[in-house]
Amino acid sequence: MFRVLVVDDDADLRLSVASALSESSYLVDQARDGEECVNKVRAGKYNLVLLDVNMPRMSGMEALKEIKAHDPSIIVIILTAFSNIRDAVESTKEGAYNYLEKPIKAENLVYMIDKALKAHNMVRNITFSAPVIKLPGDTEFIGQSTEMKRIFSVIDKLSRVDTAVLIRGESGTGKELVAQALHFNSPRKDNRFVTINCSAVPENLIESEFFGHEKGSFTGADSRKIGKFQYADGGTLFLDEIGDISPAMQVKLLRVLQEKKFTPVGANREVEVNVRIVAATNRNLEEMIKRGEFREDLFYRLNVLPVQLPALRERKNDIEALVRYFIDKFNQQHHKSISGVGLEAMALLRAHTWPGNIRELENVIEHAFVIETGSEITSPSLPESISGAHSRMAMNPPDDERVFLTSSPSSGLQAMQSAMNSDATDDDDSGDDGMMEISDAQASAAITVAASALKGFKLDICKLDFQANKEEFERQFLISALKAFKGRINQTALHANIPKKTLLRKLEKYGIIAKEYV
Ligand SMILES: Nc1ncnc2c1ncn2[C@@H]1O[C@H](COP(=O)(O)OP(=O)(O)OP(=O)(O)O)[C@@H](O)[C@H]1O
Ligand SMILES: [Mg+2]
Repeated sequence: MFRVLVVDDDADLRLSVASALSESSYLVDQARDGEECVNKVRAGKYNLVLLDVNMPRMSGMEALKEIKAHDPSIIVIILTAFSNIRDAVESTKEGAYNYLEKPIKAENLVYMIDKALKAHNMVRNITFSAPVIKLPGDTEFIGQSTEMKRIFSVIDKLSRVDTAVLIRGESGTGKELVAQALHFNSPRKDNRFVTINCSAVPENLIESEFFGHEKGSFTGADSRKIGKFQYADGGTLFLDEIGDISPAMQVKLLRVLQEKKFTPVGANREVEVNVRIVAATNRNLEEMIKRGEFREDLFYRLNVLPVQLPALRERKNDIEALVRYFIDKFNQQHHKSISGVGLEAMALLRAHTWPGNIRELENVIEHAFVIETGSEITSPSLPESISGAHSRMAMNPPDDERVFLTSSPSSGLQAMQSAMNSDATDDDDSGDDGMMEISDAQASAAITVAASALKGFKLDICKLDFQANKEEFERQFLISALKAFKGRINQTALHANIPKKTLLRKLEKYGIIAKEYV
């Protein structure tokens, strides 16, 4: 039986919604505010949450984020007064399924819930997370960060249903890979995955591109042609850059999504198809709806199951795995045998903000492959957009970093690396690495590396939870320090100014294994 949680500070409303739903054989529970809602969602198994916007203690929007972070497959429908419609529209960006305007009519409520639950049927009860999804042609979809593991688990769930998916995210974040992953992990995988780039097809040809045409139906149509919808029959149609289709095509697309049939240009018969639609955009469709440039009804059709890809700067923990993957790929393509990335170059890669996301990272690594003559990628072989940050940082460090830059990080680092690499005798299981001497310059260079890595540290201010943030900071601090000092406990304790005992206790607490950073 489906479990529904009604969240509103208005007891009368909760009661009337609950009684309307109990009649429709749902199991209904109630919460008085966002906080109670989040606690209940974390503790119980709900399929759907009906969520008010303005509530004491925690607002509906905050609760929505928490619910989606806990389990993205829970359907959330926003209950809103007319005055809050803007918030409700915004909430769809955060993953809400749809919204209902107050006063709530029982029949509208039951209809919307039925529809939403049908769309999500089968989505639940499947748990999965993998650090890599394999795609055809040796392509891999990499994700080590918590954010990407969450996306992978969503992909796993969504690949088992036929509902439309809307993938959103900045340019270069991997939207096309998500679309492929959805198809090649689905029961449709043996049929075609067909892409239409909506921004690349000229307006006068797009209808024929979608639906095909009969011979002679327009100037230049000298033979009959089937459209991409028909070509993708049984498979998946990926509508890339969906924000760029014209209003006229939006209407036609909506019809085919609703009725699963269409008429080719110039034909007098309808064609029926069984196609799963996956769409992607980096445009703000909600703003476009407000400006009248994108149809709201089409948006809701497509946005049944949204996937929001985070920017690379929000998941810097993926950088190392992605770099490894691109190095392997370019070693094959360029017939080279680059073994990895030097510490300083890696610190620069982590410090960069990556406006072009993974595509930019891929280009940076390829650039380095062409320039680099040694066996590993070093900072001089990185493009100026990345390595420039280093000289700027060294010449003019921000106030909070001056303390770390007491000598040339470049020469210090190289010296430190070779010193540490040549000292491979003292890594026993006790975690005691002896007190190998390293110079001040070497230590300060290593500290620079750790400090750079920590610049990517992100506070979880949504939670405003001191303890959680403190622990996350400690965890990342220790990892960065261990990496910089190559997993050596004594050096790390000394230079990070932590008593060795405390360091060992904390490593145990966070499950960090020093040897992994040797
Ligand atoms: N997680 C990842 N693992 C491996 N490669 C990735 C990953 N994400 C993106 N890439 C690679 O980065 C490049 C850009 O990815 P993709 O084309 O999917 O981005 P996009 O979001 O569709 O960008 P745009 O909005 O510009 O079309 C591709 O070469 C893709 O293979
Ligand atoms: Mg793309």
